[in-house]
Amino acid sequence: MIKRNSPSMRLALLFFLLSVFLIACYYDKEEEIYIEEFVYVNYDTVTVSYATDIEPVINNNCYSCHGSSNPQANIRLNGYSNFSEYALRADSKLLCAIKHESSCSPMPQPFGKLSNTSIIKIEKWIFDGASNN
Ligand code: HEC
Repeated sequence: MIKRNSPSMRLALLFFLLSVFLIACYYDKEEEIYIEEFVYVNYDTVTVSYATDIEPVINNNCYSCHGSSNPQANIRLNGYSNFSEYALRADSKLLCAIKHESSCSPMPQPFGKLSNTSIIKIEKWIFDGASNN
């Protein structure tokens, strides 16, 4: 039995407090990133460019499997016309897949999720009409 005021009890308490402190610091950091991406950048007023903001992200993360030859799931995402055509299709699963929503296969596969900024930009660009800008 560990006694209430024994050194091992105090050590356990110290360890517990230290863990709480570290967890608190971690969440604080997450919060800052969140604020930076979602509050300080007002995407309502930003025009997202296909050439600058979208194409490089798609080329780096999707092109290897959704290029022109033998594309996975028969989905071609290379170049403006393929990408915009798929993005605007009524049955498009693009946003669902990159947001990792439960009804779609999470993309990109097998790399990690795209950054929140990239996801917001792709969504905004589609919402604004997916133009070749
Ligand atoms: C390493 C290969 C690979 C990469 C990289 C990849 N995909 Fe896929 N993707 C697949 C495969 C395989 C499927 C079909 C099987 C499945 O649904 O898991 C697929 C399916 C999809 C689907 C259909 C999802 C559904 O639920 O029907 C979409 C949309 C998609 N990919 C978009 C993307 C986007 C956007 C990227 C880049 C951000 C990307 N993929 C990167 C391999 C890949």
